[in-house]
Amino acid sequence: MSSQTASPGDSTDDEASAAEAADFAGPTDARRVTTQTLQALKEAGTPIAMLTAYDYTSARLLDRAGIDVLLVGDSASNVMAGHETTLPMTLDHMIYHAQCVRRGAERALVAADLPFGTFQGNSEEALASAIRMMKEAGVHAVKMEGGRAVAGSVERIVEAGVPVIGHLGLTPQSIYEFGTYQVRAEGEEEADQLRRDARALEEAGCFALVLEKIPAALAEAVTQDLAIPTVGIGAGAACDGQVLVSHDLLGLTTDFSPRFVRRYARLDETITEAAERYVQDVRARAFPSEEESY
Ligand code: KIV
Repeated sequence: MSSQTASPGDSTDDEASAAEAADFAGPTDARRVTTQTLQALKEAGTPIAMLTAYDYTSARLLDRAGIDVLLVGDSASNVMAGHETTLPMTLDHMIYHAQCVRRGAERALVAADLPFGTFQGNSEEALASAIRMMKEAGVHAVKMEGGRAVAGSVERIVEAGVPVIGHLGLTPQSIYEFGTYQVRAEGEEEADQLRRDARALEEAGCFALVLEKIPAALAEAVTQDLAIPTVGIGAGAACDGQVLVSHDLLGLTTDFSPRFVRRYARLDETITEAAERYVQDVRARAFPSEEESY
């Protein structure tokens, strides 16, 4: 089965759209990123930049910064809702976040997680969830955690015209099966299983694959083995792209510090300091001023 899936609005002329994707100019290019763009980036050896987003305002800022893929991750459960795991997230919650992100993204491809319990039952349930996400949120793709066990559902969803991103390694929806947030697939048996799962997902029609918290050498081998792009989080530099939870990168969440997170800002300090100054000004009646009043 083809690993490249057209996104709505794409040219029907295969050659023209391949050429268009191949000369994709990078973050300053205002054209919509498609599944073909990502494939072309892999083939050109240009790394893909993906970040999570959960709301309109941040999606707009991240989109304008040139992020290729905005992932409406079910990590919203942790960073937006304050849950310990991603398991409580419902399809309605995810659709709401995806709608907000979609309205803020002009250029990025927007993909949304199918949350725990909305696709594992059978392929009919999985397809119904994917279709709700596409119709109600208007995203361009869905992401599903799991290997061969979900490959049949991936195939059915892709056949219905919905692009799918796979997700292997430390898949947070299986945290109670793993019992720990340690690196996955360090042993030969689990590494072999992951390689087989990766191939099965590609054959089922996934157009990209997220690899989370696995040894860099294994991620590199999978990346070389697959025709579709891999996007790593804690999976080393050889993946075709990288993804981080935006709250981690921005330094909004500092109680969670795995070594794969690089903080590009300390917005926790900026926000706390701004709020403290506001409290002081309100208490001192220094806000609002005359100019700020009617
Ligand atoms: O939910 C999420 O944010 C994710 C990324 C960490 C890949 O799945």
